[in-house]
Amino acid sequence: MSDRVFNFSAGPGVLPEPVLRQAQQDLWNIHGSGIGILEHSHRGKVFDRVLAEAEADCREVGSIPDDYAVLFLPGGASSQFYMIPMNFCAADKSDTVDYFDTGEWSHKAIAEAKLFANVNVCGSSKATNYDHVPKGAEVKLSARPKYVYIESNSTVFGNQFKQLPAVPAGVPLISDSSSDIYSEPIDVRKYHFIYAGAQKNLGPASTVLVIARKDYLETGRADLPTMLQYRTHVKNQSRYNTPPTFGIYLVGQTFKWIKSIGGLKAMAERNRAKAAALYDHLDSQSFFTPLAKKEDRSPMNVVFKCPTPELDDLFVKQAEKHGLDGLKGHRSIGGMRASIYNAFPIEGVRALVEFMKTFEREHRGASKPAMAGAR
Ligand SMILES: Cc1ncc(COP(=O)(O)O)c(C=O)c1O
Repeated sequence: MSDRVFNFSAGPGVLPEPVLRQAQQDLWNIHGSGIGILEHSHRGKVFDRVLAEAEADCREVGSIPDDYAVLFLPGGASSQFYMIPMNFCAADKSDTVDYFDTGEWSHKAIAEAKLFANVNVCGSSKATNYDHVPKGAEVKLSARPKYVYIESNSTVFGNQFKQLPAVPAGVPLISDSSSDIYSEPIDVRKYHFIYAGAQKNLGPASTVLVIARKDYLETGRADLPTMLQYRTHVKNQSRYNTPPTFGIYLVGQTFKWIKSIGGLKAMAERNRAKAAALYDHLDSQSFFTPLAKKEDRSPMNVVFKCPTPELDDLFVKQAEKHGLDGLKGHRSIGGMRASIYNAFPIEGVRALVEFMKTFEREHRGASKPAMAGAR
């Protein structure tokens, strides 16, 4: 790893080293076929095996029951922002759907849903810079929503639903889990539909994993363009057209890697240890200010600030020189963001904490922001 740095990028993010090493070989010649993975027909025997193993390993790792479909779709996670309301809401746009607004990406999903339905924003933490997840009296579900939608982990603001919202019986719960998919064991039965862009915890950008109840997918509108109906992809096992073959291959390799380290329980332990190392340090000092409230903070995206924007810039620049890359916060909030996805090593977190200590010692005189999230 000596020629690589610690990559804190929010996405595309760091991938497991064994997966990248295997991919290097398989780019040249996969399964002894004499042809690399990028060059194989999506209808040939080699890719049959790649796809079958990716689905089987996805099911094994996540304990996905048979009545749920596992799909690999193109178009990035943002395509799901419109495909979901387009499929599951009535053509006359009379349905009401409930959306939690907990960050940049649920905000964008809401805008798309408004093209197809009445959107009730049933809880929002926008007023406090998305520093928490709405709960209790903050949540106002509509009487009979067509579905309830969450962004399980805010990549930009670093909050996470630790508990799922209480959804009325029979109302589908839909989750954009792009930035925390398979970071811990998941009870799929609590959802009708989960999706994730691969580029954080699973693989390359533009490939999307969908895990959804088959009977729910069947209820989607049948008068949409073929590619935009989920049933098309169920019927054709993600191969209606030429699928993102390399993305499916790499996501499949990542599932194998998760299995090799002990599955999602072991994954969660690793992630807990990494997040604890960083948050414990943030809690133990007063120079850096973490954004998210303690009870809702994300184990994947840790967002914090220095006392001034100038120091934020300096921190990011100097960190880079120390081999700590990608720490600049999202443009909508500034500060720093350490994305410590599944493949991110604990050594990188330790290196960041040491760097933070040094930086703080050198700049301790600077004044503090008035409150978390504000400046
Ligand atoms: C939670 C979440 N949802 C959706 C997206 C959009 O993904 P894509 O760029 O693949 O469309 C992102 C991107 O970072 C994300 O973090």
